[in-house]
Amino acid sequence: MERTFVMIKPDGVQRGLVGEIVRRFEARGLKIVGMKMLQMSNDFAKKHYEVHIGKPFFDGLLKYITSGPVVAMVLEGTEAVAAARATMGATNPAKAAPGTIRADLGLEMGRNLIHGSDGPETAQTEIALWFKPEELLSYSRTIDAWIFE
Ligand code: RTP
Ligand code: MG
Repeated sequence: MERTFVMIKPDGVQRGLVGEIVRRFEARGLKIVGMKMLQMSNDFAKKHYEVHIGKPFFDGLLKYITSGPVVAMVLEGTEAVAAARATMGATNPAKAAPGTIRADLGLEMGRNLIHGSDGPETAQTEIALWFKPEELLSYSRTIDAWIFE
């Protein structure tokens, strides 16, 4: 079973879309194994988006991502990294496929509502950055047999 890191960005929180976004992951069968709300400091945001430091959009991204509280979570399931990314949709909401979070709820790249790890290795790094091991719970749900073969 794979785990991935997902974070509802400040626009998702401000627009009251936390429930709607979490609902979509839960409905797909992904299991929430960790969840917290916090406001990222500049230093922490630089760690999280380290790969983008120096890019033209970085300053705007830093301002956006630190502008208010975010909801961070770890989701578990079959191919969780790819499944979560597919549920989120393409980076640019204007070009994302209908039915995805970014297409259904957003319009612009700089207000794209959600972050998700882009690969299994990134997922491990991001989970370790955001959560202590004891903040992640291993548990089974009675419905798991109807989701996982
Ligand atoms: P994320 O990391 O937030 O899940 O998004 P992503 O993988 O789909 O896209 P990524 O390339 O990692 O970009 C990170 C975030 O930076 C903003 N961005 N703006 N204006 C631009 O050209 C631009 N490119 C990226 C977006 O908020 C994007 O989600
Ligand atoms: Mg990314």
